[in-house]
Amino acid sequence: MKTYRIAAIPGDGIGGEVISAGVEVLQALAQREGRFGVTVDTFDWGGEYYKAHGRMMPENGRDLIRHHNAILFGSAGHPEIPDHVTLWGLRLAICQPFDQYANVRPTRVLPGITSPLRNVAGGELDWVIVRENSEGEYAGVGGRVHQGLPIEAATDVSMFTRAGVERIMRFAFRLAQSRPRKLLTVVTKSNAQRHAMVMWDEIATAVAAEFPDVAWDKMLVDAMTVRMVMKPQTLDTIVATNLHADILSDLAAALAGSLGIAPTANINPEGAFPSMFEPIHGSAFDITGKGIANPIGTFWSSVMLLDHLGEAAAARRLMAAIERVTGDTRFHTPDLGGRARTADVTAAVIDAIQGAND
Ligand code: IPM
Ligand code: MG
Repeated sequence: MKTYRIAAIPGDGIGGEVISAGVEVLQALAQREGRFGVTVDTFDWGGEYYKAHGRMMPENGRDLIRHHNAILFGSAGHPEIPDHVTLWGLRLAICQPFDQYANVRPTRVLPGITSPLRNVAGGELDWVIVRENSEGEYAGVGGRVHQGLPIEAATDVSMFTRAGVERIMRFAFRLAQSRPRKLLTVVTKSNAQRHAMVMWDEIATAVAAEFPDVAWDKMLVDAMTVRMVMKPQTLDTIVATNLHADILSDLAAALAGSLGIAPTANINPEGAFPSMFEPIHGSAFDITGKGIANPIGTFWSSVMLLDHLGEAAAARRLMAAIERVTGDTRFHTPDLGGRARTADVTAAVIDAIQGAND
């Protein structure tokens, strides 16, 4: 029997609560399926580790997880440590060197969940946002001079490479092609950002020629926010830069009912490095330790993890269990207006896994 090795990095805030729920669910699922095993190694990296060691993860941290089949990540962020330190010291310190250049963020209104949009029923909002995850506005290029002086200056340079844009475009077209509607929207801001975004548009046109069966269009990012709210039915697969997609995916998660549900996958499509799966909600210190974090974002991320490992049947079983549980308002956590606790939702999903037939 195949056994998958998963590296779990709970990180900070509610990360610990949701990742231990995720591990419980993965183990219950492996048991129910009976066709594969899951071994989980947990790494205590994050803000507390930083306070003890002066860094978010050990120097050889990546070597410790390089050979795992996948990474399940909670969140990075600590009230006493600047956000750019926690981000660059852990999450980006894994995503970028592991070349997880495709960040995939599905958005759907799950059963039992109400979208804040009027007149949007479940099936009418079904998107996948593909976020460029290796360069662009997050390239880390820039610096500060004359620090603290009146003449201080600072730059953040967006770095777009032809290779980087081509590979994310191709990934997005391929993903759009695999979905029933075969529809891709390429987000851009080439009216104002007249160098890199113009190259982005040119590459989109060139790559589109390789996918004649995919219908595609272009949207400026500001107009895209309007279209997401006013005409959500007209969208399916969406590709955008690192920063544009960061912003659009929060909007998407809110339109689908709660940030607590939204999953994400940081994929290295070539499989040269492990891919990383995480809920998008972040550390949420306001509710940390209260036992009320919504674990659904982690469970849905685990569905993506299983799909990535090629365990499609297990992924389907878990998604069906999630949808059964969201459909029952007794299992809604406070972010969804309910009173359920993390442990209630986890137990309900495990029940659904054990009960569901093939
Ligand atoms: C996300 C988050 C991160 C990002 C934060 C925590 C830095 O917002 O995954 O969307 O901007 O990449
Ligand atoms: Mg974000």
